[in-house]
Amino acid sequence: MLSYQHMYHAGSLADVHKHILLARALTHMTRDSSPMLYAETHSGRGRYNLDAPEAQKTGEAAAGIDTLLRDKRLDPDEPFLTALRRFQGQNKRLYPGSPSIAAKMLRREDMLWLWELHPREHAVLQRLFARERRTQVFNADGTLGLPMRLPPKAATPKRGLILIDPSYELKGEYETLPSFIRRLRQRWPQGAGMLWYPMLPALRHEAMVAAIRDNHNDLQQHEAIWSEPYAARGLYGSGVVYWGLSVKAMSPPTFTIPSLLHSGASLGDPASL
Ligand SMILES: C[S@@+](CC[C@H](N)C(=O)[O-])C[C@H]1O[C@@H](n2cnc3c(N)ncnc32)[C@H](O)[C@@H]1O
Repeated sequence: MLSYQHMYHAGSLADVHKHILLARALTHMTRDSSPMLYAETHSGRGRYNLDAPEAQKTGEAAAGIDTLLRDKRLDPDEPFLTALRRFQGQNKRLYPGSPSIAAKMLRREDMLWLWELHPREHAVLQRLFARERRTQVFNADGTLGLPMRLPPKAATPKRGLILIDPSYELKGEYETLPSFIRRLRQRWPQGAGMLWYPMLPALRHEAMVAAIRDNHNDLQQHEAIWSEPYAARGLYGSGVVYWGLSVKAMSPPTFTIPSLLHSGASLGDPASL
């Protein structure tokens, strides 16, 4: 049974980094007037309360989104901030999961396919999207379900974006993701995609990224580093590899390393970004 619960990590630095890139990708892709598909293999519950005991216990949102907003470290023009404000409305303690960010940015004619395996997380997600006709929510393994639905059939948009955001709690997940991505791209060559990965002192992501890179020579990478690897107890950074999206769309010059660092963190190695 899955034990990971994103409630403990919502609004963390890693979450914000991933969501900034997601919002940039969707801004870029929705400039094209033709409809698009957004598919997410590991969706979570879609909405989080930053005052919940789980969030308070880790303090990750306090060190993440709360600090970034209080210290005005995010560019006001970031599409992520626009989506965040639209999602929060009057309740500034709500934080959107990636499906909600996508839902706020997509258009009526676009489609969303969302997989979430954990029954409790799925139930919340299902309720959140119950009234959305453009959205399908599946209580199943996204790594099995998504490839079976690709390439998109008749009435489904032919272009789109996949977000893969695993919890990395299963043994072997780092090893199986490269072949999963290869399979997805074989089945849907027109699809763009993003994979998030944790940067931990054990450096397990390095071999995974190298293996993905071996399969795809157009792979791009974006990392935010807020600590020295050897000094970190948990994550020292957050990484995303992506394909089918231009580097320009994902990395406008307004995005700087210090903008993601919370007070007192060390700078890491800018050359690694
Ligand atoms: C990191 S969280 C997702 C967070 C979400 N993408 C966001 O940014 O708001 C990972 C989620 O994947 C779910 N999960 C784990 N393995 C899965 C699988 N094989 N298929 C679908 N969901 C899975 C977990 O229950 C968890 O809710």
